[in-house]
Amino acid sequence: MKITLSVIKADVGSVGGHETPSKELVIAIENHVKTEGKRLLIDYKIFHTGDDTAILMTHTQGVDSQDIHKLAWDAFVAGTAVAKEQGLYGAGQDLLKDAFSGNVRGMGPGSCEMEFEERPAEPFILFAADKTDPGAFNYPLYRGFADPFHNAGLLLSSDIAKGFEFTVMDVNYTEGDRIIKLNVPEEAYDLAVLLRDPEHYVIESIKSRDTGEQAAAVSTSRLHNIAGKYTGKDDPVALVRSQKQFPSTGEILSPYATAHYVVGDNRGSHVVALMPCKLGAMISFFDGPAIVTAAGICVHNGKFTEAIDLFEQPFWDMIRMKASEKTYAIREQGFFGAAMAPMEELEYTGVVERIAQLDKKFSLRKKS
Ligand code: 13P
Ligand code: 13P
Ligand code: MG
Ligand code: MG
Repeated sequence: MKITLSVIKADVGSVGGHETPSKELVIAIENHVKTEGKRLLIDYKIFHTGDDTAILMTHTQGVDSQDIHKLAWDAFVAGTAVAKEQGLYGAGQDLLKDAFSGNVRGMGPGSCEMEFEERPAEPFILFAADKTDPGAFNYPLYRGFADPFHNAGLLLSSDIAKGFEFTVMDVNYTEGDRIIKLNVPEEAYDLAVLLRDPEHYVIESIKSRDTGEQAAAVSTSRLHNIAGKYTGKDDPVALVRSQKQFPSTGEILSPYATAHYVVGDNRGSHVVALMPCKLGAMISFFDGPAIVTAAGICVHNGKFTEAIDLFEQPFWDMIRMKASEKTYAIREQGFFGAAMAPMEELEYTGVVERIAQLDKKFSLRKKS
């Protein structure tokens, strides 16, 4: 059966500061999807990671369906109403436009979708990250799909030996979708040179070169490009299919053991280690650390199994400690140098005005 897997996520309010949505808010989103999505959806599941709520859906409307996007938008509007009633912080934060117009892309919510013919067994992972940007997935996707240190299948399995095609988006270009397609292994170094700048170049999707089937989709929206100022971090989602012609689930998870450094955390402006967390995890230390959750699911005829919590397994306790240590190590440096986001990211914050003011006070010392 050909199905579409869509995930659309937004932050429409949270308890404390930017920590976690209230139970009532999540219920309001779910109730909307349940009642209004009856005709449209085959199945759905609701997740939350930090202060973001994700709606995972299966249907047969294809990607970029106006009806599906409107369903999610309206669910977030319903969530916003509850957030306002409860006085939650940042009510409606990610709904950057007043009215829905065709597609959530460019309107605030993050989304990624894949349409495919289901395999007899169809395992996939929903990743959701909070307090970081979509480039946070560059490192683990590159290593999980292109590096035999993590993806032993590249050496051991003839199903994936031909490698993968990566589509990378220039997220600084705002006039349209500026993309490049690169094949690994041949163009692995070209791909690496782009992916090392995750605030500029972001993996949008990955395909099997063996079968042409899509393996991964990542949300690529950068909120500051939509709003023109800092309105919160993009907090990306990704869908990754696993096994057989794709890397195994364990190979896709393996790079997260690095707890790699990402931009985000407090005010979206710092560098911290990405911590793999349990589903529904909240935010605390320094409005962070940046977190990522992973739900493992199988889908058959569009119906989901239960979601298993892939970072709940005891191995990840050690990685959470490591992520805390790495985060604390750089946090001790405060805002100096590498501890804070690169200047291009800070351009959407008050730092720019302050520097502009100070700039006027600079003078050239007269040569004696
Ligand atoms: P099983 O033998 O348990 O199916 O595992 C195969 C595999 O490739 C795991 O990476
Ligand atoms: P969110 O993007 O998750 O709302 O976080 C915003 C922020 O500035 C936290 O300090
Ligand atoms: Mg928030
Ligand atoms: Mg968030």
